[in-house]
Order: sequence, then structure tokens, then C-alpha cells
Amino acid sequence: MSGAGAPGDDAALLARAVAARDLAYAPYSGYRVGAVAVAATGEVFDGANVENASYGLSICAERNAIAAMVLAGKRALAAVYVATESSPPASPCGMCRQTLLEFCDDPATVRVVSTNPAGERVEWTVAELIPAGFTGKQLP
Ligand code: THU
Repeated sequence: MSGAGAPGDDAALLARAVAARDLAYAPYSGYRVGAVAVAATGEVFDGANVENASYGLSICAERNAIAAMVLAGKRALAAVYVATESSPPASPCGMCRQTLLEFCDDPATVRVVSTNPAGERVEWTVAELIPAGFTGKQLP
């Protein structure tokens, strides 16, 4: 696989996700997450989880990174890098999976790579994380 978010970029982009994790605002769960969305153009967008005293308003790192990408005018997602605090590294929640799917031209080619403070690494494609997902193609 080559192009934006290809395996050769993993170390730098995971380091960037770790840096985003340091900026997380997670005083309620104490669980910090950083994420990096790589657009098909190669541009990179950061996100971290941002919690709220009204717990249900908390936003995940992955969705914040996707929002930053969209606000920069980019809608084609190439890869996502996540820095969690779990072992093994956690995968994106269901709501984030659906959000990632929205911006995949081909979910089978969009990599999601997750790491943790121990340096463990796990990888999936968006198609693996949300098989048979609902998309705009199903809408009339
Ligand atoms: N969280 C993320 O940022 N990404 C996920 O995919 C899973 C969960 C956040 C939400 C909340 O702030 C904290 O982790 C605990 O659930």
C-alpha cells in the first residue's frame, strides 16, 4: 500500500496521535485518546477526546479529528491513527466507526492504526471495523 497514510508513515503519525492524546480533556473518565486523520491529499488533522460535566456531551478523539478534516475542506479519508491508554490498543467506538465510514471512498483500503503507552500496535481497515455499514448509498 502506498500514498497517504501508508505503512511507511506509521511511526511519525502515531507519534503525532500520542502528542494529540497529551492535549485530551478527560477529567471525568481519566481516559485520554488522541487521533490523527490523514486525508487522501496527505494532509493531517489532529483530534483528542473532549469531555464535559454533562457526560453525554463528551466527544471522541476520532470524531474531532474528522471534524477538523472536513472543516479544512477535505472529505476523502486515507487513514486514521489513534493513541489510546488501553492494552491491547483500543479500537474506535461504534459512533466513531460510523463517522469514519462516511468519509471512506473504499473502506477496505482505509487503515486504522491504534497504539498505547507500551508501544503496542493494532491495525484494522474501516471495512473490518464496520462491515455492512449504513451509508448515503442506501438513501433514496
Ligand atoms: N473515547 C474516544 O475518544 N475514542 C473512542 O473511540 C472511545 C472512547 C473517549 C470518550 C471518553 O472521553 C473516554 O474515551 C472514555 O470513554
